[in-house]
Amino acid sequence: MSRFRVVVGISGASGAAIAVRIVERLAALDVVDIHLVVTDAARRTLDHEAGADALPRTVALSACAHRIGDIGAAIASGSFQTAGMIVAPCSMRTLAAVAGGLADTLLVRAADVHLKERRRLILMARETPLHLGHLRNMCAVTEMGAIVMPPVPAFYHRPESVAEIVDHLAARAIDMLALPLPPLAKAWQG
Ligand SMILES: Cc1cc2nc3c(=O)[nH]c(=O)nc-3n(C[C@H](O)[C@H](O)[C@H](O)COP(=O)(O)O)c2cc1C
Repeated sequence: MSRFRVVVGISGASGAAIAVRIVERLAALDVVDIHLVVTDAARRTLDHEAGADALPRTVALSACAHRIGDIGAAIASGSFQTAGMIVAPCSMRTLAAVAGGLADTLLVRAADVHLKERRRLILMARETPLHLGHLRNMCAVTEMGAIVMPPVPAFYHRPESVAEIVDHLAARAIDMLALPLPPLAKAWQG
């Protein structure tokens, strides 16, 4: 089977564990090359929320971990084919930068490239409550083709732990990439 390149961007909103789980589950598929890019703020939230080993573990599972300032990296160009990009979690700062096309970091540039190339871009935008500027930025990126997917837990599968909730959110985000693979999230059977 051919391999898929997936860009995973981690920004500094709460929910770093979701990013770690997305990388773990993508890596476990064995057919995905992960291109990772982590903002400076996300280094801090990863460390604070997911532990000191979270970032090195995530880097180790990636085919390539790009520096946030490396705006000449492969994922900064539309000629580098990918199957899509997930930003998890997506801070309001990163959301605003994507909405405004302010591609001054590699994460935002890669997101911008996914939009201009009409590829899947999934933004797990996380903040609460939301002001009108946040909502307008969500509208703007949706109009540009992104999928805004806030990490809102589902309870219909009766999760028994935070890990289960995180796993379900990660599986749903990966399924939104629409890779030609069986879905990861357990489907509601009625
Ligand atoms: C522990 C912690 C939790 C945070 N949670 C959020 C959040 O849920 N949403 C958000 O938009 N920003 C959050 N922030 C603030 C962002 O990290 C900050 O706005 C940062 O500049 C985002 O930069 P980035 O988009 O480059 O990652 C949090 C910061 C810290 C330290």
